[in-house]
Amino acid sequence: MTMDISNTRKLFPILDQEIYGKPLVYLDNAATTQKPRQVIEALSDYYLTQNSNIHRGAHYLAAKSTEDYEQCRHRVQEFINARHSHEIVFTRGTTESINLVAYSFCQEFLKEGDEIIISGMEHHSDIVPWQLACGRHKAKLKVIPFSDEGILDLETFRGLLNDKTRIVAVNHVSNTLGTINPIKEIVETAHAHNIPVLVDGAQAVSHMPVDIQSLGCDFYCFSGHKMYGPMGVGVLYGREDLLDKMPPYQGGGEMIKDVTFEKTTYNELPFKFEAGTPSVGDVVALRYAIDFMQETGIENIAAHEQSLTRYATERMMEISGMHIYGTAPDKTSVISFLIGNAHPYDTGTLLDKLGIAVRTGHHCTQPIMDRYGIPGTVRASFAVYNTREEVDTLIAALNRIAPMLM
Ligand code: ALA
Repeated sequence: MTMDISNTRKLFPILDQEIYGKPLVYLDNAATTQKPRQVIEALSDYYLTQNSNIHRGAHYLAAKSTEDYEQCRHRVQEFINARHSHEIVFTRGTTESINLVAYSFCQEFLKEGDEIIISGMEHHSDIVPWQLACGRHKAKLKVIPFSDEGILDLETFRGLLNDKTRIVAVNHVSNTLGTINPIKEIVETAHAHNIPVLVDGAQAVSHMPVDIQSLGCDFYCFSGHKMYGPMGVGVLYGREDLLDKMPPYQGGGEMIKDVTFEKTTYNELPFKFEAGTPSVGDVVALRYAIDFMQETGIENIAAHEQSLTRYATERMMEISGMHIYGTAPDKTSVISFLIGNAHPYDTGTLLDKLGIAVRTGHHCTQPIMDRYGIPGTVRASFAVYNTREEVDTLIAALNRIAPMLM
C-alpha cells in the first residue's frame, strides 16, 4: 500500500516541471532531497525580515535570530532523542561532522600503533578523514568486509576489535547499496571493549526514526539537505563526556571564553565546536524540514518508500540483463543497478533525456565498486514525494533503452 501523497507532493513546486519536454521524474534523492515550500519560505523570510548575526548582538533582530537558532538545536535534540541540547553541534554537513570527530577525537585519543575500524561500504567522507588521522598519528585503518548482498560481516568485525582499537566508524545506511546496518549490535559489540562508535546517518534520518539513546552510539552525523532541509547545515551529535575531552576543531570567534596573546580558554559545549558565524538561516529553516517529516510521519514516509522500492525492484528484475547491487533484506529506498555491460553513464544520460534524474558513477564509494569489480552503477533513490506512476515511467524508460545498450 502506498500512501496518498498528492497533498505532500504539492508542497514541492520544483517537481512540477518538464525536462526536455518530459515531466521531471526526480530519483536522485540520496544525493539531495527537494525542499518543501515551508522550508524555502522560512529561508527566504529569514533573509527578508530577520538576517542578523547571533549570540552577541545587542539588538532585536540578533536576539530573534539567536532564539530561532537555539530553538532548532532543541528541535534536533528531540528529533534524535539526544539527552542534552549541548550535545548537538551545527556543522556544514555530514562531511564536516565526521572531519571534526576524526580530527579532534583522534588528537586526544589516537596514538602511534592504534587502530581505527571502518566498514567496507563507507562513503569517502567516512574513509578519508580517518586515513588523514591515521597518517597524522601513525595509526592503522582496519576494514569490515561485506557480502555480495551488501551485508556487513560482523564475525570478522568482532575479530578486528582489540586493545589497540580506538574508534569504530560505520554508516547507518549505505548511500550506494541501501543496506541498513545493525547499528545497535555494532555499538554493543564495540562498547563491550569500551570502544566508541561514530555513525554516519546521512542516508538514514529521512528514512527511519532515529533514537540516539536506543542506538547507543557515541557520535551521529547527518546533513540537512538530505532530509528536506537546506544545503549548508549539518549536525554532529556527540556524547557530552567525549565532546568535553576533545580539543576544538577550529579556532575563531564564538568558540572562546577568554583570549589573550598568551592563552585562550574555550567556550562550553556546544559552542567550543562552532567557530565563526554559522549558516544561521539554514539552521532556522532546518526546523521546518523536521516539522515536515514529523507531520508527515516518519513511519509513513518509510512505509511509502519501502513500497515503491519493492515494486521498482520487482519490475526492474523483469528486464533482461538487469543486475541490482545491494540486495540486503534490510534496505532503504536506494536501487543501484547496471544493465548488461552498459556503462552507467550511458544509461544515466539516456534516462535524463527522458526526464528521469538518476545518479551514475561510484557515488563517492570507490571501494564498493572495487569490491564488485565494476566502474560504477546507476542509482535510483526514492523520497516521500515519489509515486508509483514515476516508477512505471522509469521501468518503461529502462525497457526502451536496455535493447539500445546491450
Ligand atoms: N553523498 C551523496 C550521494 O550519495 C552525494 O549521492
